[in-house]
Amino acid sequence: MAVLDILTYPDSRLKQISRPIKVIDEALQQFISDLEETMLAGPTSAGIAAPQVGRFERLVIIDVSFKPNIPNHGRLVLINPEIISHEGSVVGREGCLSVPDFTGNVSRFERIHLKASDRAGKTQDYDMLGYEARAVQHELDHLDGLLFLDRLVSRRNSLFRRKVHNQVDLPKQ
Ligand code: NI
Repeated sequence: MAVLDILTYPDSRLKQISRPIKVIDEALQQFISDLEETMLAGPTSAGIAAPQVGRFERLVIIDVSFKPNIPNHGRLVLINPEIISHEGSVVGREGCLSVPDFTGNVSRFERIHLKASDRAGKTQDYDMLGYEARAVQHELDHLDGLLFLDRLVSRRNSLFRRKVHNQVDLPKQ
Protein backbone atom coordinates (compact mmCIF):
# COMPACT_ATOMS: atom_id res chain seq x y z
CA MET A 1 0.00 0.00 0.00
CA ALA A 2 1.07 3.55 -0.57
CA VAL A 3 -0.02 7.09 0.15
CA LEU A 4 -0.32 8.87 -3.19
CA ASP A 5 0.32 12.55 -3.97
CA ILE A 6 -2.81 14.67 -4.27
CA LEU A 7 -3.08 17.15 -7.14
CA THR A 8 -4.05 20.61 -5.96
CA TYR A 9 -5.69 23.60 -7.63
CA PRO A 10 -4.76 25.14 -10.07
CA ASP A 11 -3.18 21.97 -11.53
CA SER A 12 -4.81 21.70 -14.96
CA ARG A 13 -4.97 17.90 -14.71
CA LEU A 14 -7.88 18.37 -12.29
CA LYS A 15 -9.91 19.50 -15.32
CA GLN A 16 -9.52 16.20 -17.17
CA ILE A 17 -12.56 14.04 -17.75
CA SER A 18 -12.04 10.51 -16.45
CA ARG A 19 -12.77 7.41 -18.49
CA PRO A 20 -15.04 4.53 -17.47
CA ILE A 21 -13.41 1.50 -15.88
CA LYS A 22 -13.80 -1.62 -18.01
CA VAL A 23 -11.81 -4.20 -16.08
CA ILE A 24 -11.74 -4.76 -12.34
CA ASP A 25 -8.50 -6.64 -11.87
CA GLU A 26 -5.79 -7.11 -9.28
CA ALA A 27 -4.01 -3.91 -10.33
CA LEU A 28 -7.22 -1.95 -9.79
CA GLN A 29 -7.72 -3.54 -6.36
CA GLN A 30 -4.22 -2.41 -5.44
CA PHE A 31 -5.00 1.10 -6.62
CA ILE A 32 -8.25 1.16 -4.61
CA SER A 33 -6.29 0.19 -1.49
CA ASP A 34 -3.75 2.95 -2.17
CA LEU A 35 -6.51 5.51 -2.76
CA GLU A 36 -8.20 4.51 0.48
CA GLU A 37 -4.92 4.79 2.37
CA THR A 38 -4.35 8.23 0.83
CA MET A 39 -7.80 9.37 1.96
CA LEU A 40 -7.17 8.16 5.50
CA ALA A 41 -3.68 9.68 5.69
CA GLY A 42 -4.86 13.27 5.16
CA PRO A 43 -7.17 15.57 7.08
CA THR A 44 -10.64 14.16 7.83
CA SER A 45 -12.18 13.57 4.48
CA ALA A 46 -15.65 12.60 3.25
CA GLY A 47 -14.25 11.13 0.07
CA ILE A 48 -11.62 11.04 -2.62
CA ALA A 49 -11.72 10.60 -6.39
CA ALA A 50 -9.15 8.78 -8.53
CA PRO A 51 -8.29 11.84 -10.67
CA GLN A 52 -7.20 13.68 -7.52
CA VAL A 53 -4.15 11.42 -7.53
CA GLY A 54 -3.68 11.65 -11.29
CA ARG A 55 -5.49 8.48 -12.31
CA PHE A 56 -8.23 9.49 -14.72
CA GLU A 57 -10.70 6.67 -14.21
CA ARG A 58 -14.25 6.78 -12.88
CA LEU A 59 -13.67 5.61 -9.35
CA VAL A 60 -14.37 7.32 -6.03
CA ILE A 61 -14.41 6.36 -2.38
CA ILE A 62 -16.78 8.04 0.05
CA ASP A 63 -17.24 7.70 3.78
CA VAL A 64 -19.27 10.17 5.82
CA SER A 65 -19.65 7.88 8.83
CA PHE A 66 -17.41 10.14 10.96
CA LYS A 67 -20.31 12.59 11.17
CA PRO A 68 -22.65 11.73 14.02
CA ASN A 69 -26.34 11.06 13.46
CA ILE A 70 -26.58 11.26 9.71
CA PRO A 71 -27.88 8.56 7.38
CA ASN A 72 -25.02 6.88 5.54
CA HIS A 73 -23.87 3.63 3.95
CA GLY A 74 -20.43 3.53 5.56
CA ARG A 75 -17.36 3.40 3.35
CA LEU A 76 -18.23 2.83 -0.28
CA VAL A 77 -16.05 2.16 -3.30
CA LEU A 78 -18.02 3.46 -6.30
CA ILE A 79 -16.89 2.36 -9.75
CA ASN A 80 -18.49 4.09 -12.76
CA PRO A 81 -21.03 5.84 -10.51
CA GLU A 82 -24.10 7.43 -12.10
CA ILE A 83 -26.88 9.52 -10.61
CA ILE A 84 -30.10 7.95 -11.89
CA SER A 85 -32.52 10.43 -10.36
CA HIS A 86 -32.53 13.32 -7.93
CA GLU A 87 -34.82 15.48 -5.85
CA GLY A 88 -34.61 18.89 -4.24
CA SER A 89 -31.58 21.08 -3.75
CA VAL A 90 -29.77 22.48 -0.78
CA VAL A 91 -26.83 24.83 -0.25
CA GLY A 92 -23.99 23.64 1.98
CA ARG A 93 -20.32 24.23 2.70
CA GLU A 94 -17.70 22.06 1.00
CA GLY A 95 -13.98 21.59 1.20
CA CYS A 96 -11.65 19.53 -0.95
CA LEU A 97 -8.28 17.84 -0.51
CA SER A 98 -7.32 19.48 -3.82
CA VAL A 99 -8.28 22.97 -2.59
CA PRO A 100 -6.71 22.88 0.85
CA ASP A 101 -6.95 26.58 1.75
CA PHE A 102 -10.60 27.30 0.98
CA THR A 103 -14.14 26.14 1.53
CA GLY A 104 -17.19 27.24 -0.42
CA ASN A 105 -20.97 27.22 -0.54
CA VAL A 106 -22.38 24.96 -3.23
CA SER A 107 -25.92 23.92 -4.17
CA ARG A 108 -26.45 20.16 -4.53
CA PHE A 109 -29.36 17.79 -5.00
CA GLU A 110 -30.86 16.93 -1.63
CA ARG A 111 -31.59 13.29 -2.51
CA ILE A 112 -30.11 11.09 -5.18
CA HIS A 113 -30.57 7.60 -6.47
CA LEU A 114 -27.14 6.31 -7.40
CA LYS A 115 -25.99 3.32 -9.40
CA ALA A 116 -22.38 2.07 -9.30
CA SER A 117 -20.31 -1.08 -9.37
CA ASP A 118 -18.75 -2.12 -6.11
CA ARG A 119 -15.22 -3.34 -5.59
CA ALA A 120 -16.23 -6.86 -6.61
CA GLY A 121 -17.77 -5.58 -9.84
CA LYS A 122 -21.34 -6.10 -8.69
CA THR A 123 -23.86 -3.42 -9.66
CA GLN A 124 -25.35 -1.74 -6.60
CA ASP A 125 -27.79 1.05 -6.13
CA TYR A 126 -28.24 3.43 -3.27
CA ASP A 127 -30.72 6.02 -2.07
CA MET A 128 -28.77 8.81 -0.45
CA LEU A 129 -29.68 12.08 1.12
CA GLY A 130 -28.17 15.11 2.76
CA TYR A 131 -24.50 15.10 3.52
CA GLU A 132 -23.80 11.70 1.96
CA ALA A 133 -25.57 12.73 -1.26
CA ARG A 134 -23.50 15.93 -1.24
CA ALA A 135 -20.25 14.02 -0.81
CA VAL A 136 -21.08 11.78 -3.78
CA GLN A 137 -21.97 14.73 -6.01
CA HIS A 138 -18.73 16.46 -5.05
CA GLU A 139 -16.68 13.36 -5.92
CA LEU A 140 -18.55 12.74 -9.17
CA ASP A 141 -17.69 16.28 -10.22
CA HIS A 142 -14.00 15.38 -9.94
CA LEU A 143 -14.61 12.66 -12.57
CA ASP A 144 -15.88 15.36 -14.92
CA GLY A 145 -13.05 17.78 -14.25
CA LEU A 146 -14.99 20.08 -11.93
CA LEU A 147 -14.11 21.46 -8.50
CA PHE A 148 -16.44 23.07 -5.96
CA LEU A 149 -14.84 26.34 -7.07
CA ASP A 150 -16.66 25.90 -10.38
CA ARG A 151 -20.03 25.66 -8.63
CA LEU A 152 -19.99 28.38 -5.97
CA VAL A 153 -23.48 29.79 -5.44
CA SER A 154 -21.96 33.25 -5.63
CA ARG A 155 -18.54 34.42 -6.78
CA ARG A 156 -18.56 37.25 -4.28
CA ASN A 157 -19.55 35.76 -0.95
CA SER A 158 -19.42 31.98 -1.21
CA LEU A 159 -15.69 31.38 -0.86
CA PHE A 160 -14.01 31.25 2.55
CA ARG A 161 -10.37 31.07 3.47
CA ARG A 162 -9.86 28.27 5.99
CA LYS A 163 -7.51 30.01 8.40
CA VAL A 164 -9.68 33.12 8.67
CA HIS A 165 -12.77 31.10 9.48
CA ASN A 166 -10.88 28.49 11.45
CA GLN A 167 -13.04 25.65 10.19
CA VAL A 168 -10.81 22.98 11.62
CA ASP A 169 -13.58 20.43 11.95
CA LEU A 170 -14.95 20.95 8.47
CA PRO A 171 -14.43 17.77 6.48
CA LYS A 172 -12.84 17.84 3.08
CA GLN A 173 -14.16 15.82 0.17
NI1 NI B 1 -12.74 17.22 -3.71
